[in-house]
Amino acid sequence: MPDTSSPRLDDRPLVPRPDQADPGDSGGFTLTTATRVSADPEARGTRAWLQRELGASTGLPLQAGDEDDARIRLSVDPGAGLGPEGYRLIVDEEGAIVVGHDAAGVFYGAQTLRQLLPAEAYRAAPLDGVAWTLPAVRVTDAPRFRWRGVMLDVARHFVPKREVLRFVDLLAMHKLNVLHLHLTDDQGWRIEIRRYPRLTEAGSWRTESQVGAGEPPVFDGRPHGGFYTQDDIREIVAHAAARHITVVPEIDVPGHSQAAIHAYPELGESGAIPVGTRWGIFDEVLGVTDGVLEFYENVFDELLELFPSTYVHVGGDECPKTQWKGSESAQRRIREEGLADEDELQSWFIRRLDEHLTRRGRRLVGWDEILEGGLAPGATVMSWRGQEGGVAAARAGHDVVMAPTATSYLDYKQSDSPDEPVPVGTLLRAEDVYTAEPVPEGLTEDEARHVLGAQVNVWTEHIDTPRGLDYMVFPRASAFAEQVWSSGERDYAEFEPRLRRHLERLEAAGVEYRPLEGPRPWQTRPGVRGW
Ligand code: ACM
Repeated sequence: MPDTSSPRLDDRPLVPRPDQADPGDSGGFTLTTATRVSADPEARGTRAWLQRELGASTGLPLQAGDEDDARIRLSVDPGAGLGPEGYRLIVDEEGAIVVGHDAAGVFYGAQTLRQLLPAEAYRAAPLDGVAWTLPAVRVTDAPRFRWRGVMLDVARHFVPKREVLRFVDLLAMHKLNVLHLHLTDDQGWRIEIRRYPRLTEAGSWRTESQVGAGEPPVFDGRPHGGFYTQDDIREIVAHAAARHITVVPEIDVPGHSQAAIHAYPELGESGAIPVGTRWGIFDEVLGVTDGVLEFYENVFDELLELFPSTYVHVGGDECPKTQWKGSESAQRRIREEGLADEDELQSWFIRRLDEHLTRRGRRLVGWDEILEGGLAPGATVMSWRGQEGGVAAARAGHDVVMAPTATSYLDYKQSDSPDEPVPVGTLLRAEDVYTAEPVPEGLTEDEARHVLGAQVNVWTEHIDTPRGLDYMVFPRASAFAEQVWSSGERDYAEFEPRLRRHLERLEAAGVEYRPLEGPRPWQTRPGVRGW
């Protein structure tokens, strides 16, 4: 007799949608105080995660057991034909079995298992009267792309460590696997560098901040700052690694460097300048002397000790060439290196960092401006000014990550309503994120293989609190997860009902997402101008 009181797969819609999910023909399985969990050595990290997370939400001990007495079994089998990061999850009356292609696959299987429980499984303590019953299912799943990223700009507004850790948990919930941290910009330097302490002593705070994007600018008259110590970074990186997320650090050069120049004026072309308080693109950029290059090579060397990521981001975006045109040392560099112009000078600068990172076994990533003046041999391009940069780089045989503004910029407004808080950019609804296709049209199959994946970018000029961050990121990141994880057609009409149920999980996790109908009154920012 099938157990008619069991939930069905349809009651627990999965986000991102798996490759294959079929209801089982038995009843489901209910977790109890007696439920034990077995794990292959490579799956023990996921077991610890399950015990901690589901242990908290269900109040069940989920004790470790061996294969014979365990009702939840986690194992790794690279021979199961599941593909990198793939998994199979089977639930029947006897229990649940997760087989991963690798440790990451087991973890994603466990994330799916959590989604098969009631949304209360995302709370931090058990509520009375919840049945922890999994529906009978058979899921086979693997990601479409290997780079499923979110960039978080912690420079414009600092995001406290505890919030970064929580953000990592929310990415893991969506099977996203890259957290790109934009650690430096004109308005702040956010990571401790032992060799150059003034970067954070002087560069990690500004006297005030521009509010919104109106002209003339409005300022708040209130200091803003914050930075991560190297131990904070180690903690973030380890927390992310335990959730199969790689943290990709970005130090933005040679533009967007006012905070560094404030700390060490010899890095710039303009003498002493304040940490930026306005948003935008500014003429103050790094010089191109041997001293500046050595400084940044040392900075990157400290970075490499903290971040095991193969990919290291050097920025390269929005670097006006005005100061170099008038700089004696920049012009001398152009002559001595036989460069055609200032664009080639920027390429020369990036190439030097590419050589430095390549010698250390890492790979340079930069915004698509690094194409101008010639691409460094080892560079991976992050395409943001549309898809063109990605197309050009892929055709030239370089790897690319797609992050075009029109479908990836989560600082952009979520509706045309004047109630959107500080509305900027072009309209980017959850639906637009959902239906965007990462692989540009017109690439051959070989060229398309250079598309590692895609990411959404969360710029924080106008996101000054973690509450505001939740509003801008969710549920658009939930839609994005399906863009980069799920294979096959994507139809928003099919997704929306699943997304509505998924919001219950975000609700239980305490995420202050944007309701699909629009902002709650306290999520608006009356009177603050966007652009
Ligand atoms: C960028 O948005 N400046 C990469």
